Formats: sequence, C-alpha cells, structure tokens
Amino acid sequence: AAGARHRRRLLNFPAVPISSADTLTVADGYTAEVLIPWGTPIRANGPAWRRDASNSAADQARQIGMGHDGMQYFPLGPDRGLLVLNHEYADQVLLFPDGDAVMTPEKVAKSLAAHGVSVVEVALRRGRWQLVDSRYNRRITTDTPVRFSGPLSGNHPALQTGAEPRGTLNNCSCGATPWGTYLTCEENFNEYFATEDPSWEPTPEQARYGVTRWGYGYRWHHGNPRFDLAATPNEPNRFGWVVEIDPRDPNSKPVKRTALGRIKHETATVTESRGRVVVYTGDDQVGEYIYKFVSSGRWRTMRATGRHPLDHGTLYVARFDDDGTGRWLPLKHGTGPLTAANGWRDQADVLLRTRQAADAVGATPMDRPEWIAVHPNTNDVYVTLSNGTGFPNAANPRRPNPFGHIVRWRERHGDATATSFEWDIFLLAGDPDFDPSVPLDAASKFGSPDGLAVDRDGRMWIQSDISNSSLNNPQTYYVNLGNNALLVADPVTGEVRRFAVGPRGCELSGIAFTPDHRTMFINVQHPGEAVPTLERPSPANPRSVSNWPDRDPKGRPRSATVAIRRRDGGVIGR
Ligand code: FEO
Ligand code: CA
Ligand code: CA
Ligand code: CA
Repeated sequence: AAGARHRRRLLNFPAVPISSADTLTVADGYTAEVLIPWGTPIRANGPAWRRDASNSAADQARQIGMGHDGMQYFPLGPDRGLLVLNHEYADQVLLFPDGDAVMTPEKVAKSLAAHGVSVVEVALRRGRWQLVDSRYNRRITTDTPVRFSGPLSGNHPALQTGAEPRGTLNNCSCGATPWGTYLTCEENFNEYFATEDPSWEPTPEQARYGVTRWGYGYRWHHGNPRFDLAATPNEPNRFGWVVEIDPRDPNSKPVKRTALGRIKHETATVTESRGRVVVYTGDDQVGEYIYKFVSSGRWRTMRATGRHPLDHGTLYVARFDDDGTGRWLPLKHGTGPLTAANGWRDQADVLLRTRQAADAVGATPMDRPEWIAVHPNTNDVYVTLSNGTGFPNAANPRRPNPFGHIVRWRERHGDATATSFEWDIFLLAGDPDFDPSVPLDAASKFGSPDGLAVDRDGRMWIQSDISNSSLNNPQTYYVNLGNNALLVADPVTGEVRRFAVGPRGCELSGIAFTPDHRTMFINVQHPGEAVPTLERPSPANPRSVSNWPDRDPKGRPRSATVAIRRRDGGVIGR
C-alpha cells in the first residue's frame, strides 16, 4: 500500500447530476462507447440483428444474449482480450415481434438462447474497442451441455432426468479464478419452472428455494418439458450452482462446481490466502445469507495433483454478531446439527439443500446480499446489501431498509481462510431527504447498491439497482434519485461521488478493467424495463420507456456493454 502519508486522492472527477433522461452520461473528461448490444452476431458470418426481434432461436444462439450482467476481462495481449459476460434474463416482451402472450416451442428455444454467457474477443483499434471475429467467440446458453463435479457428481440420483444435463440460468454476477477461468453464478433459477398439473406440490426443499407451480411468468414449460415440474421433477436440482467456464478453450464443457453450494448465487468473488483459494458468494433474497468456500489445500498443489481446488474444501456461512464480531460456520456433514440423526444423508445432501443447512447452523439473515469485493491492499471485504425488510440484528440496522447498505468485514489477521472476523457498516445508502441518517448529498445519493468492485488504487465502484417498480415512482422513497447510477466511494473517508447515470429502466452492472486500467467495461442491463410512471413497453410500442442505445425509431432498447475511456487516454479514476 502507498501509505497514509502519500495517500492518493480517489475522487478526481466532477459529479454527474441525477438524471431521468434516456441516455448514458459519464463524468466530464470520459467517453462511453457501446459495444456488443443484444443480438450482435458473435462471428462475422453470423446472422445479422433484426430490429423487429424476428431473429429465430437458431439465430439467437449465434448472437449476443439479452440482459448483460456480471462480466470479466481476460487479457490475451496488449489491447486485446476476452470479454466474458452473463445474460441474466430475457425480457420476453422485447424478445419477440409479437410479445410473449403466447409461448411456443420456438419462442421458448429463443429465450433459452438469449440466456447464459457470451465469450467474445475484443480489441482496441485506433482508439475504439471492437468485436473480433475470433475462434474463442462462443455462446453458452440454457441449452449447452454441461457437467457436474464435486460432492454432487453427474451420477447423483437427484440430478437424473433421463437426459444429459444442459445449460445455465439466470447468470447474475461472476468471478475469475487465479488459473484463468470464469465463474458464473446461477441466481433466481426457481422462476423458470412451473407446471399446469394442479396436483403438483413443492417439497420442503423446493419451497425453501421458492419453486412454485406458477413460476415467474416465463412459461417455458409450455414449450419444453424440462421446465415442467411435474414432467421433470429433478431438473431444478441442476440449477442454483456456480459454473466454471474456461474462456480459452472454446470446446470445453462448463462445469457446475457443487462444493460451492446451491443458493441463488449473486456473485463468486475469488481471493487467495496462504495458497488456498477462497470464494465469497451471497444469496440474493431478503433474509438470506453470505457464504465462503475455502479450498482444502494450496490451489497450485491441488491442480498439479489432479484435485480441482473448487471440488475439495469447506463451505461456510456467516454469522454477524451484534458486538461487531462474526463467525464462519461450517456446512459440513457430521458437524454441528448436520448429522445423519438429523436427516442429513451426506455432504451432497447438505449442498443440495444449502439454504436449509445454513438455517440449521444459525446463519445471520441479511437484506439481500449482492456483490462482494475484496480491497486489494487492505484485504477488507465489502458486501452490498440491496434492500430488505430489516432484521433484529445489528448488521441490518434499518427496518424497513428500502435503500440498502454496504457492510465491511476484516478476516482475522487479514487471512481469508480464517473462521472469525470483525465487521462494521461501511455506508448507509439512500436519500437524506427521506432518512437523515444517510451521509450522502445531491452529488452522491443513491439507493439499492448492487454491483461492487475495488480497483487497484483502492477506489470503490458501486452500481445501483433500484427496481423499476420503485424507481421514478412518486409513491416511493426513490422519487428524487433518477435513473440507476455508477458511483465511486473512498473506503477511507467514506466520500461518495456519482460517476455515471444510465438510460431509463436500466441497471448498471458488470465492472471489468483492462490490466492497464485505461478502459473500464460496464454493462447497461435491461434499458426500457417497465417504469410505472411511463407507458409500459408492449409489442406495439417496445420503445415506450427507452430507445437506448440505437435511437432507431423502428428498433427496441437493447442491453449492451459500454467501454469507458478517459479522453486523454489516462488511467480511469486517477
Ligand atoms: Fe441478479 Fe441479485 O441481481
Ligand atoms: Ca445483481
Ligand atoms: Ca439487484
Ligand atoms: Ca438485477
């Protein structure tokens, strides 16, 4: 670390004002260029984007997906690398020319293809980032063959459906391993499963994950029996995992790493301590928990001896005590309450029912754990908590908590493998007009922190995700916060400043830097998602809320990656 005497100033840009305009605004001195919007063909000979959304399912499988979310950059050389990004969900009103009132097998197949992950090579040429027609370019969709590893291997009875395992779903945030692979997180997998069978009832395990007869309105079960709970009862067990992808091997199968547990994973933030690999992951739902996985040995030794570091280790869940200390509680079969006598068959059973195992050991319920970031110099760990009802615990102090907050913890001796820590509240988000305890002002106020990264200078980047049912709604606390934004915080002083504001209906996501820190990639996710005070998008008028980024009067809003550069070519944030 640079040392306190010469501490670098971190907020070196003018604040971007709050805005409800349908545009992406970045701080003065910076440029933002749109890259790989939804529908972009990933190869030069691929199917061209059709602005009326009439591309077929087969086209979509060869185009960039929808709902750009978590993202990592893997360098291949100077000004050249692989962007790997998640496509969390599809807005099925915008995905089809005729909307989603009727779902056919072809439309379901297109929605499956709009989900998943994209791997694309990009290069900086004459000052502009461009998609490269590369052998690495690849789509992984909800239909791509995958395999299982760890305590629930592919032959585990709970994973059998009669068909090979395929696909990844609701890929939210992500991580990158020290051996160069991408970790994608399956979040709200329950929403895609439903059935018309009135006799179907969820098991206690399914109920704990929110699997219901009605799902969330995707109606994939109308076009594909995989997603019919009565027809394929074990299919939901194949989701809720962290999935490892090798972006440098386009023929590799994605691997579901079951030792990291089955939850609605928001993120998989990787760090190292004493040679071991540590993965922090949160379960993004009100009242859910924060987890970490610690490999059983040094990851280099494990890899050299054929033991995958993410298949062997201990999964812990966090307990935040009101005195500012905390414990990592092992979710280990035979330990504490997780015994055969209490109905836990083995470690695979503990992992399949991770939420119930965490309930049993007494984890602390949190206000929607989202992204987790490790400060590269102090090793402090930060988690965004998006919003919630509040709980009678000090780590979630506001009841209710519409604005969210950021909690910080420090592992004992700064060792990420430790089983105890100290924690505090780093920041209460919100609008001081509605909550005077919020230490923010016109240049910094925001709600519902979600995306989070700490850059190599120690600058904290925070992305807001106020839901569109609340945003710009005069009935809510969020009325004066405008569109979702990207902010920068100084972890030492707690100062915050708004760096960018997104177009209407979007959230900003996916923070990735090039190694020289002269480009920052972010994602504009779901521009044009319905805003209550504005006309809802419809098949007849898909541009009603937003027409970003194309401004095409016959087009529709599209999620896209954005490359942010300094006008003078300098390091971002300095
Ligand atoms: Fe996918 Fe919790 O955001
Ligand atoms: Ca998120
Ligand atoms: Ca969110
Ligand atoms: Ca989201």
